[in-house]
Amino acid sequence: MALFLASDHGGFELKEEIKKYLDTNKIDYKDLGTNTSESVDYPDYAKKVADEINNADGEGKGILVCGTGIGISIAANKFRGIRAALCGDSFSAKMSRLHNNANILVLGGRVTGSALGVEIVDIWLNTPFEGGRHQKRLDKITAFEN
Ligand code: RB5
Repeated sequence: MALFLASDHGGFELKEEIKKYLDTNKIDYKDLGTNTSESVDYPDYAKKVADEINNADGEGKGILVCGTGIGISIAANKFRGIRAALCGDSFSAKMSRLHNNANILVLGGRVTGSALGVEIVDIWLNTPFEGGRHQKRLDKITAFEN
């Protein structure tokens, strides 16, 4: 599974903490920036991850971080096939995979501390989609795109 990471300046520090967790656990990823704390526009980074997921035939997953997580999740969810879930707790992260088959996890770097952020990433990456009745609901969301 391809994993793509990106943040704006508000999410940069948490993104770097997430990379340490991924490196420690030998999980491959592609970091699409930003690479400094200088101000950038979060929609550009949402697009980078959404495009990579869609180029990976929808098989990839992404992690996006901005200051609150709000702007970058609004932007990501404009792209076809993207189900970006802003999660500030472990239960929501788990449910976003089980029921929503979220393909992007969104975190708020100015809201969620690094220990909780990394715990959320760990749960999110290790929870499968339950399918079944939930697929029918996702199909209804996909129909909105057409
Ligand atoms: C950037 O200052 C900030 O607006 C951004 O990181 C994010 O919180 C937007 O929703």
